Amino acid sequence: MRSYPPVASFKTVVSFRAYLDKLGVELPMDDACDGTDSPLATPCYWGERKIGNRWCIQPMEGWDGTAEGNPTELTIRRWRHFGESGAKLIWGGEATAVRHDGRANPRQLCITEQTAAGLAELRSTLVRAHKECYGQTDDLMLGLQLTHSGRFSKPNEHGKPEPRIAYHHPLLDARTGVDPDDDNVIFTDTELDDLIADFVKAAKTAWNLGFDFVDVKQCHGYLGHELLSARTRPGRYGGSFAGRTNFLRTVITGIKQECPGLLIGVRLSAFDSVPFHPDPALSTPEKPGPGRPVPYEHLLPYVYGFGCNQGNPLEPDLDEPKQLLDLLRELGVMAVDITAASPYYNHHLQRPTLYPPSDGYQPPEDPLLGVYRQIKAVAELKRYAPDLLLIGSAYTYLQEYLPPVAQALVAQGWTDCIGIGRMVLSYPKYPADVLARQVDAKRLCRTFSDCTTAPRKGLVSGCYPLDEYYKKRPERAQLIRLKKGV
Ligand SMILES: Cc1cc2nc3c(=O)[nH]c(=O)nc-3n(C[C@H](O)[C@H](O)[C@H](O)COP(=O)(O)O)c2cc1C
Ligand code: SF4
Repeated sequence: MRSYPPVASFKTVVSFRAYLDKLGVELPMDDACDGTDSPLATPCYWGERKIGNRWCIQPMEGWDGTAEGNPTELTIRRWRHFGESGAKLIWGGEATAVRHDGRANPRQLCITEQTAAGLAELRSTLVRAHKECYGQTDDLMLGLQLTHSGRFSKPNEHGKPEPRIAYHHPLLDARTGVDPDDDNVIFTDTELDDLIADFVKAAKTAWNLGFDFVDVKQCHGYLGHELLSARTRPGRYGGSFAGRTNFLRTVITGIKQECPGLLIGVRLSAFDSVPFHPDPALSTPEKPGPGRPVPYEHLLPYVYGFGCNQGNPLEPDLDEPKQLLDLLRELGVMAVDITAASPYYNHHLQRPTLYPPSDGYQPPEDPLLGVYRQIKAVAELKRYAPDLLLIGSAYTYLQEYLPPVAQALVAQGWTDCIGIGRMVLSYPKYPADVLARQVDAKRLCRTFSDCTTAPRKGLVSGCYPLDEYYKKRPERAQLIRLKKGV
């Protein structure tokens, strides 16, 4: 099985650059990050609202809410860390279901009358923490990510999928507990009309709670994202580009009508691919093999992905994502957070990692290629829509070299903001420490994937290897046992 050199094995920018050259990765990278003189420390604008720097915290849920969808101590701690991070854009906090049946797990946050006070506390904890650390919050922007988990809904029990889908998917149905002959799991048009009303109601609650924006989530295989590829779906919410974007368009216009002062953003999987699985020939019961696409050749042209080349769905095709950016601009949505694919069926594209989660596969390529694919997609979209505020994702795997790459990307206009996910779980003050030129290498996320494996096993998420708080929690021992198959 092929292995790839860990990023930490490159001791200098020069040796890292030489390796990137060998990989054919033309990634802008400065020699070092210039701290507070860096473009990362400069403000940017979402319409007229100023955002104090170029760091963004990506949404990250912890599978740690209560049964009703209220935050717990763990959720509050994570949001406090987001506030303390030094990032001035907090994109969505974490996925929050607009109603119970759309929860991806029984511990996902849910926005209802019963949880409004809890969500208000989350928001105020984050803002207060930011103020205590940095003195100023008028250049801080905080949104709430609104979602329905669709095919990946498990609202009641950890091991019990209760999927609701946009259309039957020939490769994903079997993986997600969907009987390909059961049409009752498909949302009817009327049910989608009702769901739109739930999104608008949720946005109104978020607005009343003081969130600056809501994110109408369109990524990672959840319902909003699945609708974008619903080419085979008849009726008002499928088929043509206009039909497939009808749900999103109607949610956005509804929110604008009901909440005139609330900003709206969209987190978008700009490209997708076919599902991957561990190579059966190279897998053992102890260790999954490297990821390979499941057979898809009989399905060409592949109409089951958004932002996929239909002739070769392993390649992105950004034509429709560009059309979507045009549509969003028309609707007044001026900020789009770009991500890719799905953590469930092709995780190497979504969150590049050297060590896969328990239900995953070994990397099919150097994870740096996964990082670069997302960076290139953002750059292409930025060239196409320079007036939109774009946020990029999946930089964590760059580790030691994240700051000089991030600085060059912003300086050269490849992205507006650097959105970080896992890095802030292992190292909550990472953005501030980069700007202070005081990075502690011991805290850098090494992509061990425990924060993904734990919830896959029904445990709360967290950085078990590097965060002292999670190291001491009883779930850590449980996780170690579960990983060993005990
Ligand atoms: C534990 C965990 C929870 C996540 N939860 C969400 C989420 O609620 N919403 C979302 O859009 N993305 C979620 N993501 C994806 C991240 O926002 C991000 O796109 C991904 O981790 C890649 O960025 P990174 O390389 O900086 O980690 C999650 C990722 C992790 C590791
Ligand atoms: S568990 Fe910690 S080190 Fe591992 S991927 Fe998650 S944040 Fe990174």
